[in-house]
Amino acid sequence: MSHADESPGPGLRLYRDLADWYPLLTPVGDYTEEAAFYRHLFEAHGRRRPRTLLDLGSGGGHNAAHLKASLACTLVDLAPAMLALSHRLNPECEHIQGDMRSIRLGRVFDCVLAHDAISYMASRADLQSAIATAAEHTAPGGVALFQPDFVQETFKPGTETGGSEAGGRALRYLEWRWAPEADAGTYVTDMAYLLRDETGAVEVVHDRHVMGLFSRAVWLELIAAAGLAPLAVPFEHGSYSDTGHEVFLGLRPVPGDGV
Ligand SMILES: C[S@@+](CC[C@H](N)C(=O)[O-])C[C@H]1O[C@@H](n2cnc3c(N)ncnc32)[C@H](O)[C@@H]1O
Repeated sequence: MSHADESPGPGLRLYRDLADWYPLLTPVGDYTEEAAFYRHLFEAHGRRRPRTLLDLGSGGGHNAAHLKASLACTLVDLAPAMLALSHRLNPECEHIQGDMRSIRLGRVFDCVLAHDAISYMASRADLQSAIATAAEHTAPGGVALFQPDFVQETFKPGTETGGSEAGGRALRYLEWRWAPEADAGTYVTDMAYLLRDETGAVEVVHDRHVMGLFSRAVWLELIAAAGLAPLAVPFEHGSYSDTGHEVFLGLRPVPGDGV
């Protein structure tokens, strides 16, 4: 099953009929430091002044909300409901519906961000296609940044809880990560949401997310195969600091570099 599938059925309700609950699951204010870290990487590794950014799998636009002051942002997502959500938060940004595995905009950007959405690439072929899309849209001297939630070497089964409230509504969740079998190339995130509406009524929803799990070597190999110089840098942000998590960069050579 491709997790990015748009056909009706179970799974991914978070990005469809439950999209309006998304900001309570992962509030935009939680992205301040992370977005600053990504901006720092674009500035430190790019060979052109970062002015434009393409966000592949932009979701609620929570990273873009913190980056748009210094970068003109183009946001691409598969889910119309998520684009609508992001458009309300980021009306000044360009929003385009499309699949990160295949979209071609016919222009290049100083920075390309494929944040947690890239974790939905659940096969090597899908990951290769998404990385090729990022590479295709990275200007010479520009940087593509990939931030999978886990690689094979760092994956840990486990649970997390959280949530927030606003405007009379509240959400709490249980996130339960597990891998069906070692080296299967995917892991499962079973999400349970408790959704409390303005009347106090509570609904419980189960939503299964299937995510890709690739080794560090595969990431670096696919980035290089897409024509970018691969680089892994430690993810120095919040709870992920000192956990071995890494951000993968792909640097587009400048003509004459001889790369
Ligand atoms: C967790 S959200 C991304 C949140 C985002 N990083 C932010 O800053 O708000 C994951 C998003 O990935 C999108 N997605 C999944 N597969 C996709 C694909 N093949 N192409 C584009 N978007 C995809 C989903 O529609 C969803 O909006």
